[in-house]
Amino acid sequence: MTAETATDAHAAVRTAPLIELRGVRAVAGGHTLLDGVTLTLNRGEAVRLAGPNGGGKTSLLRLLSGELAPAAGERLYSFEHHEGQIQRHAVHARRTLSVVGPDAEAFFLTRDWEQTVQDVLLAGFEGDTLRLWEPTPAALTRLAEVVALTELEPLLERDFRMLSHGQRRRVVLARALMPRPEALLLDEFTDGLSTGARQTLGRVLERIYAAGVAVVLATHRPEEAPDLPWRTVSIADGQVRHEDAPALQPQPRAINLPLPPGTGDLIRLHNVMVYRNGHAALGPLSWTWHSGQHWLVTGENGSGKSTLARLIAGELGAALGGTVERPYLAASGQRDLLSTRRRTIGLIGAEVGIRQRRDWTGADILASAWDGTEGFAPDLTPAQADAVQHLAARLHLQDLLPRTADTLSQGQLRRLLLARAVLHAPKLLILDEGLDFLDTDHRQRFLALLPELAAAGTHIMVIAHRESDAPERLTHHLRLEKM
Ligand SMILES: Nc1ncnc2c1ncn2[C@@H]1O[C@H](COP(=O)(O)OP(=O)(O)OP(=O)(O)O)[C@@H](O)[C@H]1O
Ligand SMILES: [Mg+2]
Repeated sequence: MTAETATDAHAAVRTAPLIELRGVRAVAGGHTLLDGVTLTLNRGEAVRLAGPNGGGKTSLLRLLSGELAPAAGERLYSFEHHEGQIQRHAVHARRTLSVVGPDAEAFFLTRDWEQTVQDVLLAGFEGDTLRLWEPTPAALTRLAEVVALTELEPLLERDFRMLSHGQRRRVVLARALMPRPEALLLDEFTDGLSTGARQTLGRVLERIYAAGVAVVLATHRPEEAPDLPWRTVSIADGQVRHEDAPALQPQPRAINLPLPPGTGDLIRLHNVMVYRNGHAALGPLSWTWHSGQHWLVTGENGSGKSTLARLIAGELGAALGGTVERPYLAASGQRDLLSTRRRTIGLIGAEVGIRQRRDWTGADILASAWDGTEGFAPDLTPAQADAVQHLAARLHLQDLLPRTADTLSQGQLRRLLLARAVLHAPKLLILDEGLDFLDTDHRQRFLALLPELAAAGTHIMVIAHRESDAPERLTHHLRLEKM
């Protein structure tokens, strides 16, 4: 090729859209995920994907990344290639593009691999998940660039599993940058992040965008997206709507929580410390939850909020010298056992591990509320079966009852888990960033249940970074400091 034609080709690549979808249909498990999708992603632009739960945002990201193949229609890539050639192969997309989101993070957490942050990044250079080779000079050069972009220098030697949520998010992002992608595909990127962590990530994203990388972000929380010149694309029912998304509605918060009846202490923590993987995750903490109190718990990522939730629910224990008492159980003549805790506490949080049980149906998930069983759903009494139907109707869950967990969108699964957490009218309901992944409508629909639950005797704890997720009239506030 002469120098001149190389320059021409280079110009062609510069003006061609990075990714073009023309009338694309995508299917999985007999479901049509996307249909008739026509969309252009230009080089270096910022696109925000909006739309209801189950609309098709995550599927579209997977289609762009090459992970999901079109069943009909066309998908055209034009990546920049050395010598100015256009590289059109989906294989190149598979190697350099990845969807950064909760699933990517969960992948590393559920493998119990001992990997440092540096290992995770170096493996990402080759698109691997585990580093099995000695890094090449090229990999080390890229590592240095990415570390500078993402401010990860201080964390390089840390074990990935020990990081806070916000730090993990940044590492997964950095890993995606290692193969020099021309687009970043981000799914529900700001969920579960404290303000501090969100600001750091926002700064990092602005830098990456300024370097010419296209950014596609699927989110239900546009107000939390970093400040880029976003073009908004709405997706509902597997179809792209090119008109602008409706303006942000202010979130109605007028939810009044009655004080639950009853007297006495519910939970007593005395001098509690919790260690996880050898690190102090919470404490020392002495604290009491009395009857008639609803709590708001806040704190930066890593301050121990989820650890507190799981300690109360009995999923984690306190170190020697500390005590956890649940006097509300004795008061109603019950012993403090795993089974009685499960029957009386509803907990929803990032670590509720149902996602692994991929063959459970929506109906199984709800039915397991009473026993908190993991593995099978027992036969329900007629009253319980009624309660399932009633709540499913209230929360518009009927469509999801026959579906298996592995075919659900993130929001759909979360909606089922939230329903499961309240179905048995628990004495304590702990929502640990529980409304993450929900679209605005479903968030409101769920919040509207809380006053009735409280009136019937449920005490509520909300762990949240966002005030808008907390109903008004939480009576007490616990602020955890990072140690
Ligand atoms: N592997 C699969 N098999 C069958 N159906 C699927 C599969 N993955 C997703 N779906 C369905 O495709 C539709 C689109 O799902 P997708 O995850 O793309 O939605 P989403 O817009 O990302 O939703 P959310 O806001 O809840 O994350 C949903 O109805 C979902 O249940
Ligand atoms: Mg999604």
